[in-house]
Amino acid sequence: MSVSPFSVQAVRSLFPALNQTVFGKQLIYFDNGATSQKPQVVLDTLAKYYALENANIHRGVHYLSQQATTAYEAARKQIQQYIGAGAPEEIIFTKGTTDSINLVAFSFGERLNAGDEILISAMEHHSNIVPWQLLCERKGCVLKVIPITKKGELDLEAFDKLLNERTKLLAITHISNTLGTINPVKELISKAHLFGAKVLLDGAQSIQHLSIDVKDLDCDFYTFSGHKVFGPTGIGVLYGKAALLDSMPPYQGGGDMIAKVTFERSTYNTLPLKFEAGTPHIAGAIGLGSAISFLQSIDMEAAAKHEHDLTTYAQGILDTFEGLQLIGEAKNKTSVVSFIIDGMHPFDIGTLLDKQGIAVRTGHHCTQPLMDFYQIPGTVRASFAFYNTREEIDTFITALQRSMQILGA
Ligand code: ALA
Repeated sequence: MSVSPFSVQAVRSLFPALNQTVFGKQLIYFDNGATSQKPQVVLDTLAKYYALENANIHRGVHYLSQQATTAYEAARKQIQQYIGAGAPEEIIFTKGTTDSINLVAFSFGERLNAGDEILISAMEHHSNIVPWQLLCERKGCVLKVIPITKKGELDLEAFDKLLNERTKLLAITHISNTLGTINPVKELISKAHLFGAKVLLDGAQSIQHLSIDVKDLDCDFYTFSGHKVFGPTGIGVLYGKAALLDSMPPYQGGGDMIAKVTFERSTYNTLPLKFEAGTPHIAGAIGLGSAISFLQSIDMEAAAKHEHDLTTYAQGILDTFEGLQLIGEAKNKTSVVSFIIDGMHPFDIGTLLDKQGIAVRTGHHCTQPLMDFYQIPGTVRASFAFYNTREEIDTFITALQRSMQILGA
């Protein structure tokens, strides 16, 4: 299957969920930041796995177990190649971005000491804040925060000042889920490395919009979730440089992660299984492999251009609305428009849009410190994928105007 060169209508036809009505209206799905829809090929892969190939992996001598093991490991290899990692061992299957970050916070965190500093930014998702706070409580480390400007861009001068030889880790989002800001991560990584700090990129919002090459970025860790990249829920990835992962202790104990167990002492498996205790989400990994194959059939550069066009088109129209304030106006942004409207609660706007068939997310988007910075309770967020269209944005704008009339603007 190939849909290159990129054609929105061809891509849309591969996603059954997009072709349905909600409250009697054609569904317009603008909540891709929360989760993406799934192409038929991923659904088929999952159904086929459970129907015909279901077995536990790495354990059985029997045919099905070997089939499932081969498919699971093939998915790992595919992901390795897709993000440009050096070896399949550098790809750890997790539950998702949150799980990946917690793994690093626990395991990499074991080697940190009181007074060591962890640097994050003011636009992080809670999943890239709280694990570090827990680590700081456990080990006496210090959490530092790179401030942002009102436009929603990192304050790079402040970043330079915050970096020092005590900085052991920079953990930062590649693209903000609330603002859409694309951070200049290559520059941040090379600066952090000058001080010997490791860098974790939260890629939950970047892998579905950009081509990722972890070697070129030179990040030490990259994390993402399957469900935001057209794959299943409950599966995600931690990429880590092999030498670094090798030097880290296991995160969880159980089957598959051991070499030898006695009551006195256990020794651990090699990468990647050292970090995959217990029966993993086998179907999820295989489904994610299928989602990655799907992405490989898309012209990602053309898709990214299309998403950028949708973002600037929507933002340009919204910017002309009286009483509407855009939250997140970075020069380099994509796929997200967040806004508030004077005198109207985001939840009310979201509810009225829903009744018109339009799915957006409202609230703090798991970025409460960012809401505090803007002194707002939440925003309305429309987040786009490459299967969205300008026509959908036009319908959304009309529905928003109707909602504003109902709410009395
Ligand atoms: N982190 C996801 C979002 O931004 C759930 O909606």
